[in-house]
Amino acid sequence: MSDLTQLRREAVAAPESGIVAVINYAREREGLIPMWAGEGDLATPDFICAAASASLRAGETFYTWQRGLPELRQALADYTARLYGRPSLPDRFFVTGSGMQAIQITLAALAGAGDEVVCFGPAWPNFAAATELQGAVAREVALDWTEAGWQLDLQKFKDAIGPKTRAVFVNTPANPTGWTAAEATLRAILEIARDAGIFIIADEIYSRFYYSGGRAPSFHDVMEEDDRIVFVNSFSKNWAMTGWRIGWIETNAAFGDIIENLIQYSTSGVAAFMQRGALAALEQGEAFVESQIARAAEAREIFASRLLATNRVSMTPPDGAFYAFFAIDGIADTRAAAFRIVDEAGVVLAPGTAFGQSGHRFLRACFHRRLDEVETAADRLVDWIGRAA
Ligand SMILES: Cc1ncc(COP(=O)(O)O)c(C=O)c1O
Repeated sequence: MSDLTQLRREAVAAPESGIVAVINYAREREGLIPMWAGEGDLATPDFICAAASASLRAGETFYTWQRGLPELRQALADYTARLYGRPSLPDRFFVTGSGMQAIQITLAALAGAGDEVVCFGPAWPNFAAATELQGAVAREVALDWTEAGWQLDLQKFKDAIGPKTRAVFVNTPANPTGWTAAEATLRAILEIARDAGIFIIADEIYSRFYYSGGRAPSFHDVMEEDDRIVFVNSFSKNWAMTGWRIGWIETNAAFGDIIENLIQYSTSGVAAFMQRGALAALEQGEAFVESQIARAAEAREIFASRLLATNRVSMTPPDGAFYAFFAIDGIADTRAAAFRIVDEAGVVLAPGTAFGQSGHRFLRACFHRRLDEVETAADRLVDWIGRAA
């Protein structure tokens, strides 16, 4: 009766998240500091929640625009124009039910059986898993770990492109490594993609969490409007809305009807009240975003400096995003180490095994938390490294 061969091969083959096993182990234990998640510890600000509940109370409970409320699409265009200093029009924007759904819709538009999609690893595992669910093959190009940080070897990227390649995921700043492509690197990637005729799926959702001042370099800085680039983005991180599940796609307006169809045949649009919350986030949320980034910068400094002072840790403080991705001398099995760290240090980390072959030696800590907790977590880890490694 419960024979899995009855189900679609790609669905059965989808990998279990390498992070979930550690979370399940740690769940419901007292006194742990959770640094495994890809989110901060603050709840969504009141002004965003108030806009959503006002919308519900006003009766905005009906089917809505597939592409998103016109006001929200306009606000997304204005936000993008402000952030990147170049004009943008609402017909390039499509509201989706999370960044993850933006990725799924983009893949549904670009890649299927027989196709390949490149991603740079160590990578957030959902890129490869979502690609393979579409029936396409995910091909990892490993970033190189050097004392100066993670580096992309452009030749390796070129070599990974073949006749079946349809697209490349470029996640910058990256989860989990914090690798942030310089503008020259983005230009080079764009040139290679143009020459090969492949799409860039640009995941710049952490672009505001950039620690050299301002925002991270973006494909917006180097592209032409009709380049084959699909930006997948999200309200989750900037506005502390991970539980809402709302994001967006930005791409060439010429693909609008296709994307609208793909939205129609999946969620049929994002609930209007959520979109009102998102609109409030864009219109009134700047001070909140800036305060989050300032706190993450302090947390990064505390966490990285304490771990590096042990002289037993390999890591460069991340250029962007809010994760420390570090290796501990003498620790090869990071999955086993993550369980031990729960028991012996009271800190929950994500093992590098969750982020592909190139991440195996590393552990990921999300430092986007209250500073006193980050200090305690760093002290506990330093103590554990002294005892255990
Ligand atoms: C690189 C990256 N892209 C996309 C997402 C998806 O964000 P969400 O589905 O919460 O909007 C995440 C979440 O952790 C992420 O790290």
